[in-house]
Amino acid sequence: MKHAGTALRAAAILALLVLGALMVSCPRSAGAQAPPPPPRFVMLCAACHGYDGIGHDPATPNLAGQNIVYLYNQMMAFRTRARVHPEMNFFTGQMTLEELQAIAIYYSVLPR
Ligand code: HEC
Repeated sequence: MKHAGTALRAAAILALLVLGALMVSCPRSAGAQAPPPPPRFVMLCAACHGYDGIGHDPATPNLAGQNIVYLYNQMMAFRTRARVHPEMNFFTGQMTLEELQAIAIYYSVLPR
């Protein structure tokens, strides 16, 4: 009997510890749902478009919250020079297709 009581108490303490650990880890898992940090190579684009996707001057379009397929298609148009703009032709030419996809994802999920 004495042993059973001890085991029960140990189980209760263990349950409390697990519960406590879960409560402590909750804010961390909520933080993991925040937008991912910008891919490293976005710094080339951020000089003009900003890390927040807001253009730095009136001639530079905002990218934040823009349609993901539109963003990708425009970058590909610049890359293949179907759309002509010297800086954009150059910078999209520096990127791999995987990087352009990552950039389209990154900017499309930012708040406008
Ligand atoms: C030197 C400044 C500069 C840099 C660096 C730059 N851009 Fe641009 N970007 C522009 C300008 C200016 C335009 C508008 C071009 C036009 O008028 O046709 C533009 C247009 C765009 C567009 C089309 C937006 C639309 O609404 O049609 C996309 C997408 C884009 N840039 C993505 C990028 C990405 C991705 C990078 C990095 C690889 C980048 N830009 C780097 C200046 C820049």
